[in-house]
Amino acid sequence: MPVRALWYRRGALHVIDQRALPARTVVRRLTRLSEVADAIRTLTVRGAPAIGVAAAYGMVLGHREGRYSPDRAAKALRATRPTGHDLFVGIEAVRRAWAAGDDVEAAADAYRAEVVSECHRIGVAGAPLFARAHRVLTHCNAGALATVEWGTALAPLRFARQRGAHLFVYVDETRPLLQGSRLTAWELARERIPHAVIADNAAGYYLASGQVDAVIVGADRIARNGDLANKIGTYEKAVVARENGVPFYVAAPWSTFDARSPSGRTIPVEERGELEVLGFAGTRTSPLASHARNPAFDVTPARFVTAFITPDGVVRPRDLAKALARRTSGGTRSSFRP
Ligand code: MRU
Repeated sequence: MPVRALWYRRGALHVIDQRALPARTVVRRLTRLSEVADAIRTLTVRGAPAIGVAAAYGMVLGHREGRYSPDRAAKALRATRPTGHDLFVGIEAVRRAWAAGDDVEAAADAYRAEVVSECHRIGVAGAPLFARAHRVLTHCNAGALATVEWGTALAPLRFARQRGAHLFVYVDETRPLLQGSRLTAWELARERIPHAVIADNAAGYYLASGQVDAVIVGADRIARNGDLANKIGTYEKAVVARENGVPFYVAAPWSTFDARSPSGRTIPVEERGELEVLGFAGTRTSPLASHARNPAFDVTPARFVTAFITPDGVVRPRDLAKALARRTSGGTRSSFRP
C-alpha cells in the first residue's frame, strides 16, 4: 500500500514532513491556518494535489480559529505558492461551503476523498500503457506523497505492477530539492519496485540509447490547450523524449486542469530562493560572491505530450478541449489507444 501523506483528525491536520525524508519520518501536527500556509510554502507538504487538500484543511482550521472571514482565509492560503492549480481548487471548495454556512469539515473531507478517488482512477486508466513499456523514466515526485494517496505519475505504475508488469523506473534526482532521489525513490523502495536514481543530466543519455520505453510525469497546472507546468526540468525531458520517439505521458486529476488558462503563457511560474541552488544538503557549494536563479517549474508545450492520463481515461492533447467540455456536461470517455 502506498503511504498516506496527510490526514485530519479532531481539529488538527497531520502531515508527513517531506523535508525530513528519507532519513526520518516526522509527522507534524498543524492546528492553525498560518501553520498550514507555512507548511505549503516550505514544501513540508508539496505536490499540487496534496497542497490542494492541505489548503482545504487549512481553511477548516481558519474557520475554527474564529478570526478569519472566508475570503481572508482564502487570501492567506492562496498567497503560498502560485503555480499549482489544485491549491486554488481546494481552497475554493471549502470557501464556498464556509460562505454558505455549510459544514466546512465535510467540504474538506469530500474534496480529499475526490482527489484520492481520482488518483486511484488515474492508476486504473493508465496501467495498460505500461503493460509493455517496462522501462519508465519519471521526474520529481508525483507519488502518494504529492497527492495524499496513490499518486498521479506513480499510480499507473503501481497498478501495472499489480497486474504483473516487470517495471524498472529511472528516477531523476530533481535538483535543487531532490524530490526524485529523496521522495520518489523512498516510495518505490518501500514497495520494492525496482528503480535507479539518475542525475538530472543523465536522462538524455538513457533516452537516446534506447533504454527508456516511456516517460511519465505529473503536473502542477494544465492549460486549456494542454500546455503544462511541472517541476523544472520537465520541458527538456519532454523534448528529448520526442526527439527519440519515446512516449511522454502526463497524469493529473481534474483539479490540476485550469480551464481559465488558455495556454502555458498565462501560467505563473514560482521563483524560489537562491540558497536552494547555491548549496547542497545545507552546505554552500557555490562561491559566496555568486548568485542563483531558481524557477521551481517550467512549461512544456502540449505538442510534446503523447497523452494525458486523467481519472476518466487517456486523452490525446488534440482531444483535451472536448474532454474538458464533456466533463463539465458529465462523463469523459477515453479517446486514446497506445
Ligand atoms: O515543488 P513541488 O515539489 O511541489 O513540485 C511538485 C511537482 O512538480 C510535481 O511533479 C507535481 O506537483 C505533480 S504531483 C502529482
